[in-house]
This record gives sequence, structure tokens and C-alpha cells, in this order.
Amino acid sequence: MNIIQSGEILGARVEGLDLSQPLSPAEFVEIEQALGRFGVLSYPKQVLTSLQLKQFAERFGQLEINVANAYQEPGLPEVMILSNKVGPDGKPLGLSDAGQDWHTDMSYSKMVAFTNILYGLEIPHRHGEPLGNTEFVSMHAAYDDLPEAMKQRLEGKTITHDFAKFWDMMRAKPGSTRGPLTPAQRAAKPPVSHPAVMVHPITGKKVLYANPGYSMRINELPEDESAEVLAFLFTHQLQAKFQYKHRWQVGDVLMWDNLGTLHNAVPDYRPDEPRYIKRCQVMATRYFDVAAA
Ligand code: SIN
Repeated sequence: MNIIQSGEILGARVEGLDLSQPLSPAEFVEIEQALGRFGVLSYPKQVLTSLQLKQFAERFGQLEINVANAYQEPGLPEVMILSNKVGPDGKPLGLSDAGQDWHTDMSYSKMVAFTNILYGLEIPHRHGEPLGNTEFVSMHAAYDDLPEAMKQRLEGKTITHDFAKFWDMMRAKPGSTRGPLTPAQRAAKPPVSHPAVMVHPITGKKVLYANPGYSMRINELPEDESAEVLAFLFTHQLQAKFQYKHRWQVGDVLMWDNLGTLHNAVPDYRPDEPRYIKRCQVMATRYFDVAAA
């Protein structure tokens, strides 16, 4: 295996690894360390069945079955389809607007997400350029770059995260096909609190754990002060200097660290430019206590 750094703030390409085969213990450790350090890893030219994708993903922790409970691979509910394609019956083949704004996955869950693992089967291109890039920002860099006074202010603070915030935001976008969350779906994901600053379990360094998609409120501050600080953090963390972009190619497996990054799926392709991706979400069960969560 050869891990080639992008030379940018995030990102590395992992070559010489066939993900359809089980990882050796040494390969696993090398990948885990690289994921903490580079935040986003891509594995080009992979040929995987959905079962092999799931088997690779579950090496890293417990897999989540998405609360929307739709667009699952038959017989493999942990593998979800993200796509703008429709079947011969006119029904969507996948979730068409997954992640189309800045967020980090599952911050709304008691047990937060560790990594997402996506496998690109159809990638739209125009004039030879890939569309539907996935963008990232580094939360290691965003934390390090905070003014000292803000670091002090965030010390010991917790933030409420709510699944419904992102869902309702996506629903409000023109052309959204998302229905309202059912009472059962809302009840399954009540708002939760997490520290505003976490010690990253792989790097041992501090990361900013706030994101515009799900973060609602800094619990220990008065409402107006919380709104002001969150607005500052959201602007701060999305600065271009913290950003990295994955330009998809067919056969890419893309894996990112949800604790050390935020991401955004760019919807710059048309309905007649098919994008078809399979996704597994891995919870941070390797690092955090399930019972405590
Ligand atoms: C996601 O947020 O998991 C979707 C990312 C993408 O489709 O690029």
C-alpha cells in the first residue's frame, strides 16, 4: 500500500490496496492513522460488491442504518444508495440530495459517526471535468486557528445538535422531494448534546465539533450569545483556507473522518447527468463508550 498525500490541508490517495480483500491488522492500523492525519482518503479503481463494501466498512466500527429507512441495497440495509437516477417506474433509485450543504454526519446522534465510506459507480462529467465533487473542511485546522479568547470561551461548553435542522433545511430547498419527518422519525432522533471541542481519538489533538447542518445552540450561553458565537464558528470553519475538494472518478472509494472534518456534496449536475454512489456510515463505537453515549 502506498499513501500519497494531496499536499493540501486534507486528503491522501491510497494506492495498491484491493478493498475486496480483508485488510491485514497492519494495513488496518496504517489506514486508521492516515484517516486521522489526512481526514479524507480515496482508493481509486476499486471493484466491489455491496457486500464487500459493507465488509470493508464494518472493520472500522458499527454500521448505521439510516433513519430515513429508504434507498437501501436489498438485503443490506447498511448500504444506502445516493443517486439522482430514476427507475423505469419513475421512482427514485436513491436519495438525490444527500449531504448537499455543510455538515458532519450523525452529530445529531448520541453515538456520533466516525467515518463515511462511499463507492462511486456513476459520476457525472461535463467537458471532461467531474461534477458532484464532495468538499471538506478540516476541523483540526479550524480549531487551531481560533482566536485564543474563543478557545477559552468554548472550553467546557456543549452544543445541542438536531437531526431535524438539516432535514427541514433540505426540504425547504426548491424541488426537494423530501417529505416531512414522521413523528416516529423525530422520536428516533431527539436532539443531543456534545462537547464543542473534542479530543480526536486518533490524533489526540483538539477539533472543533460544531457544524451548520445540525448544531442548534451552545447550551451554557444565553440564547443571543449562543447565536452570535455559533454564527462566528460557522463562518470561521468554512473559510477557503480549510477546504479540500474530492473530484470523483468511477471506481473511487472515498472515506472521511467525520470527527475531524465537515463536508458538502456539490449539486452542480443536472437530472440527466447520472450520479450513483453507495454509502456506508460507520459509528464511532471503536472510540466512545456505547453505554455512556
Ligand atoms: C454525504 O453527505 O454522505 C453525501 C456525500 C456525497 O454524495 O458526495
